[in-house]
Amino acid sequence: MSTSPGQPQQPPAQRRSQPTADAPKGRAKGAPSGGGGRGAKPAEGPKTLKPLPWEPDALAPVISARTIKFHYGKHHRTYVDKLNELIRDTGMADQSLEEIIRATADDPKRIDIYHNAAQAWNHDFFWASLGPGGGGRARGGELLRLIEQSFESFDAMKEQFAQAAIKQFGTGWGWLVQDGERLRVIQTEDADNPLVLGLQPLLTIDVWEHAYYLDYQNERPKFVHAVLDRLINWEFAEQNLRRAN
Ligand code: FE2
Repeated sequence: MSTSPGQPQQPPAQRRSQPTADAPKGRAKGAPSGGGGRGAKPAEGPKTLKPLPWEPDALAPVISARTIKFHYGKHHRTYVDKLNELIRDTGMADQSLEEIIRATADDPKRIDIYHNAAQAWNHDFFWASLGPGGGGRARGGELLRLIEQSFESFDAMKEQFAQAAIKQFGTGWGWLVQDGERLRVIQTEDADNPLVLGLQPLLTIDVWEHAYYLDYQNERPKFVHAVLDRLINWEFAEQNLRRAN
């Protein structure tokens, strides 16, 4: 699961198949529906599709407006819509996505709620992890200090982050997380979210095929390197680090 030294605790077996880099598993779930990009019709229900933090064409050419149209306007929207269906009459409508994720992660009877809540949260976090003019290097301060302490160098961390995202088998996510006094790079499978592992996410890269196939076909490494070189939002990582400490 992790490309950094040490392993996070294994998540409960009933929640997910083993989140290792070589664990086989099923393909993407749920055909997307709905449409539009920024300004599209809000989801009906207590959970809403948050607006993107930038215009749909702002990440081009690394991520095209067409990819954003489908990824945000259809895939992300479907997770929110499905979650609203699933939590109707459950008493969870007033809970935050984080609260729903934590409450359902270990409950096989509510695994569908967990999957859709986690995917809604993960996508919100992914959009915030990207931005036009991103990439480059983290600025100084606590984030860079922890990166150098945990990985020896910024470049070593960046390469581990890239490889975690590239080598995640099938659908999933690459993450930079805070684990106590240090930072780590991990992978999660399908919808899985580091919060339920007791880890604080700082950044993520979505490596479900819907994230890159229209622009890069099967060349996931090109997508991941381009995101890290040109879009990843180090200021967002700093904000998450401050929020967690
Ligand atoms: Fe996605």
